[in-house]
Parts: sequence; structure tokens; C-alpha cells
Amino acid sequence: MKYPLIFLFAIALSCFNCASEKEPIETKTFVEEPHSFAIPNKAYINHLDLDIEVDFDTQTLKGSASYDITNNNVSEIVLDSKFLNIKSVEADGKETSFRLGDFDEFLGQALHIDIKNDTKTIKVFYETTERTEALQWLDPQQTADKTHPFLFTQGQAILTRTWIPIQDSPQIRITYNANVKVPNELMAVMSAENPKEKNPEGSYHFQMKQPISPYLIALSVGNLEYRAISNRTGVYAETSMIDKVQNEFSEMDNMLKAAEALYGTYAWEQFDVIVLPPSFPFGGMENPRLTFATPTLIAGDKSLTSVIAHELAHSWSGNLVTNSTWNDFWLNEGFTVYFEIRIMEALYGKERADMLALIGRQDLEDEIEDLKDTPESTQLKLDLKNENPDDGMNSIAYDKGYLFLRTLEETVGRDKFDVFLKSYFTTNAFTTLTTEDFVNYLNTKLLEPNNLKFNTGEWIYKPGIPSNAAVITSDKFDNAERTLEQFLKLNEVDTALTNNWTTQEWVHFIRNFPETITPEQMALLDNAFDFTNSGNSHIAMVWFEQSIIHDYRGNDVDKNIASFLTQVGRRWYVETLFKAYKKADKVEEALSIYKETRGNYHSVTASTIDLLLNYTSEDTTSQVE
Ligand code: BES
Ligand code: ZN
Repeated sequence: MKYPLIFLFAIALSCFNCASEKEPIETKTFVEEPHSFAIPNKAYINHLDLDIEVDFDTQTLKGSASYDITNNNVSEIVLDSKFLNIKSVEADGKETSFRLGDFDEFLGQALHIDIKNDTKTIKVFYETTERTEALQWLDPQQTADKTHPFLFTQGQAILTRTWIPIQDSPQIRITYNANVKVPNELMAVMSAENPKEKNPEGSYHFQMKQPISPYLIALSVGNLEYRAISNRTGVYAETSMIDKVQNEFSEMDNMLKAAEALYGTYAWEQFDVIVLPPSFPFGGMENPRLTFATPTLIAGDKSLTSVIAHELAHSWSGNLVTNSTWNDFWLNEGFTVYFEIRIMEALYGKERADMLALIGRQDLEDEIEDLKDTPESTQLKLDLKNENPDDGMNSIAYDKGYLFLRTLEETVGRDKFDVFLKSYFTTNAFTTLTTEDFVNYLNTKLLEPNNLKFNTGEWIYKPGIPSNAAVITSDKFDNAERTLEQFLKLNEVDTALTNNWTTQEWVHFIRNFPETITPEQMALLDNAFDFTNSGNSHIAMVWFEQSIIHDYRGNDVDKNIASFLTQVGRRWYVETLFKAYKKADKVEEALSIYKETRGNYHSVTASTIDLLLNYTSEDTTSQVE
């Protein structure tokens, strides 16, 4: 079995007797990967000391990144860098020469640094530029309190290199310390040990003691407050949100206990969540110790908290056991969706878990339909060479990954599967795995010992859904479908049938409108249930999607859609709505909205929608008159 990232402790035979006097030489082997210029087999970074100042006036970070390196006797170390202004570089405290390679639109530039064969540390002095893609600088107007500016970073997949010069590959693992200077009235937090109160000088020190991949380095700066939920969980948010956030996520400690009961001790000591302004491009991002989350999760009834279970699950799948390359992204996300749904089942029962699983099942079918012209992109193992990994990492990794693992679970039985998964996380903790490493592990630890044949190859390397996929059912969803049919037949709303429906039932009901539903029928539903003004972001989003597709324009829904798209930058929501415009042949309408809203989006959302709508800011031909 090959574990490319396992530590190989080589102790010279000649020194057998003096082993206690000498440190063992540690060598790691890295697999080739398409999204980093680094050549870690020659020299790689182990530890980062970051020293930066956050300047809201010029919207730049300035400072230095110093690294402890492992140097395999070479004269150069290569880092990744994109849109950074590199000022000077030192090797072991002395200025050294460096050169930037050719620019690639996705990868940026290689930063070649000249070193000696015994160089142990390097230090890069740099500044970010206005083209940085990881950072989003927000005006007070774009925040909840509207009083202070805000900054957050988003590193995954290959954006950390746009705010720190670094070997930006998930195979790299580093510990880090950071000194961050911010304006006095603001608080800084990172994916590290965090402050619970503001420092009056705006001076913050951070430490991340466990080695993490560069895409997990994260920073937020704003007018933040902290509230503890338990001794090891808590929330950060702006003042006007903090009570609601604390209440919404009050189950976090129970989630953490449920997760530990399944797959072993939480490795990161603290699990906090920060709720960011609404332009944050994801539902959640699993930055270690401090998940970053969208405020669209704050529904008031805890109905969207499975996203928190998801990000918590990444503390095992993703942060502890990490995909080696972005082609193996399903190892991060498929396992995490599986684990998320198990946590939700432990807390709220099988009925809720199966509803979540079925929503994912429908997403999977929609995605396969969307990708019908490129069936190879529905494989679990991807080939994202020469692509922006962010564009290639679709929901197949999540939903097909989940279905694969659930099918395996049902084939081998839950007891055996849980023992297997627990040992998978323990054995591979703090390492990175390729898909092939996983397949080996699966064969030797689960399938062969149990004398089982399983079509693993078909699941991983073939498009579409294999015929042995687990069948998932939900009485509640069956009932929602019957309710919809009855409404469509009678054109009458019977509110007795929808009493006590959960968010998931509403989402299922709305998403399953047939092509033939009329704007008049949608008006009947809207008058009864006021979906257009729903305070639940998921219900509102699927309702808006249907309104666009079926040309429902009652209740001023267009205005709400435009204001939703202006405020919310969560990529999944924004993309779903712009896809709906495209599907309904309303690209002109979409472009006229997008021209107004694009400036509010983080670069990852903007670049996805640019691609979807074929939008180039300079290109006047794609703009409506
Ligand atoms: N790690 C992802 C977010 C991500 C994926 C960032 C790819 C950059 C590239 C995060 O854990 C995630 O999956 N978020 C989802 C939530 C989820 C419940 C499916 C989201 O943002 O919607
Ligand atoms: Zn995830």
C-alpha cells in the first residue's frame, strides 16, 4: 500500500547506536498535482510566521511571511503567488534573489527563491493588490451593523496564494503563528486559537498548533463579539446579530458530542462559528477551529443548521484527512456529507436525515442533467488539469460521494462501516490521501476481510449513478408530493395538509412543481403561504427559482429576487437563480440584474456567474442596451 504523505523516518544504519543523539531525518513524498507550482519533493514549508497589517484605507495587507523549511539539499524553493506585490526575500536572515515565473490565469505565478542547500528559513516581504481574489473588503453598508468595515478571506481551493505567498497545495501541511494589526475598534479572528475580546490596540496574536493545509488559513476582521455556547463551542458575529446567532446554533455542542461518538475525538480543541456578512460566498467554510458561515443560515428555527453539522464534520474529513489534490475533492466533500447526515440523524432522527439525503439525491439528478454534455465531469475522481478547480468542483463530489458511501454502508452493514470509518480517520489523521490511497484502504480494511465484492471502480471512475445505488425514501416527502398533486388537480389550497411542515418538506414541495404549473396556480400558493416574503433563505431561494422558470411575477416577487441577489452572495443560491434565468430564456433580464449586483459578490461567486452568463465586464456586446 502506498501512502505518499506518510512520514518516513530514516535513521542511518551507521548511526544506529547514536540514534538518541541525532534527530531522525524526516522525508515526505508528494504526488504530482496540477494546481500548484511548488516542487515540494525538493523543498517544502513546515511552519509559517505571518506578520501583517490590515489597512482598510488602501484595502491592502502588508507584511511578511516567514517559513521554516525542509530542504532536500537544493538551491531553490518554489512558492505560489498570484496578484501579490513581492518586495524582497530573505534566506536565513540574508537578502536573497527571487524571480516570478510566467503568469497563468488560474494558478498565478511561481515564486522562485534562491537558497543554499542548507537554508532553513525563508522570509518574503509583500503586499496584496486590488486584484486579490481571496479577500473581500466590505463597506459598512454591506455589513449587518452598518457601522464598521469588514474583511474576510476565502482560501479554498487555490486562493490563499492571493493573500500569502505560499506552497498552495493541499498536500502541504503547516503550523502557523500570526501577528495581525487591525484598526483599534475592530477584532481579528483566524483559523487558530482566537481572542474572545477586542484588543484596545488592535493587535492580535494567533497560533495554529496542528498542521493544516494552506487553503484552511483564514482571517476575518470586523466589529465582532463572542458568545460561548459551551466550554468548547461558541459564536462570533456583529452586535446586531449575536443573540440570534447564539440561539440558532445552540445545538453546536450536541453536534460535536454526536460527531465524536461516531468517529473519534475532536482534534482541534475549540469549535467556533463566525457568521459573516451576507456576501460570504459559501453556506459554510470549514476553517479549522473557526467555521466561516453565511447569515442566510439564521432562519430563526434552527432549520438550516445541517450546514453547521457539515462544517463540523470537515474537522475529520477534510481538515484531519485531506484530499491530496483537487481531483480527489470528493474525499473531502462526499465523506463530509455522509458524516453530516449521520450527525443530523443522531440529533434529530432518521426521518430528518433521510429528507436531507433525498434533497441531495434530487440535486444529484439535476447536476447530472446539467452536465450531460460532459459526462466525465460526473465521475467522482476528476481531471481538473488546466481548469480552475473551483469551476470543476461541482456537487457530484457531494451528492454522488454521499450516495457511494451510503450504498457501501448498506452493503456491509452500519456496524462494520462505522468501525472502518473510525479507523480511517484515526490511521490517516494529519495526512493527505489520493482517491487511489482510499481505494487501497477500502479494499484491505473492509472489502477483502469481509469477502465482499463491490463495484468501487464504477462508482469512482465512471459517469452517472451505478444501478446498485441505495434507495432512499421518505414518507414525509411522499406526502408532500401527494399534497402538490391534489392542489394541482383541485386548484385549491388546503392548509390543513401542510400543518407543521418542516423547511425540508416545503423545499421538496416547491422544487417539484411540474413544468405545467401556471402563474395563476403559483399566485394561489403565494397568497396562502406568502413564499415571496419567506424569512427562510432556502424556501425563498427555491420559490424564486420557480418564479423565474414559470414566469410568476405576482406579489412583487421580482423586487424580492433582485434584492435577494443584491444582498446574498452565497454562490449556490446566486448560481441557482441565474441558472433559472438561463433555463427560462431570460438571459437579458439576468444580465441587467447581474450588472448591478456583481460588485457586491466575492470573486468566487462573480467568476462562477461570469462563466454562466458569459459575462465580461469590458465586453459591451454581452450587455443589454
Ligand atoms: N468546503 C466547502 C466550501 C468550498 C467548496 C469552498 C469548494 C471552495 C471550494 C464547504 O464545506 C461546503 O461544502 N459548503 C456548502 C455547504 C454544504 C452543506 C453543502 C455550501 O457552501 O453550500
Ligand atoms: Zn463541505
